[in-house]
Amino acid sequence: MREQVLLQSKIAQGDFSRGGETSSNLKEALRKLGIKLTISRRVTIVTYEMEMNIIIHSLGGQITVYISSEQIRVVAEDLGPGIADVERALQPGYSTADDYVRALGFGAGMGLNNIKHYSDHFTIETEEGKGTTFTAIINF
Ligand SMILES: Nc1ncnc2c1ncn2[C@@H]1O[C@H](COP(=O)(O)OP(=O)(O)OP(=O)(O)O)[C@@H](O)[C@H]1O
Ligand SMILES: [Mg+2]
Repeated sequence: MREQVLLQSKIAQGDFSRGGETSSNLKEALRKLGIKLTISRRVTIVTYEMEMNIIIHSLGGQITVYISSEQIRVVAEDLGPGIADVERALQPGYSTADDYVRALGFGAGMGLNNIKHYSDHFTIETEEGKGTTFTAIINF
């Protein structure tokens, strides 16, 4: 199967009321396609972390999920502010989340580590002031 778009979703800054919506829609789409639970779980976790990062840390963005016979590719693009120090952001426990966000249960500084752990390939492209693109690939 040639790669095609499975789902595309716009995500607004600070919109906690819709937090988890994209990943749960995706989970349902994967279930309908008969994708194995072992794969679906990994894709859903990765997408959830990206979705929450857009809500919490960015000015808004979108997630696009592509599927082919070989893999599922999750791309999260946002409009800024970008990540100044990617290596530091990847350190387990590092978080810039404020008290409000922490009180909601986020900000453990584990999201990017989770994405890395559950994907076969993970890249971060970021430019300060411009935005960030996370790409994760999960192979079948
Ligand atoms: N889309 C983004 N735009 C700008 N900065 C980001 C973005 N995503 C992550 N970051 C930065 O990277 C840090 C680490 O992200 P990570 O997802 O690992 O942890 P967290 O979101 O702070 O906490 P958790 O995911 O455990 O709730 C964030 O605290 C933030 O500073
Ligand atoms: Mg996070």
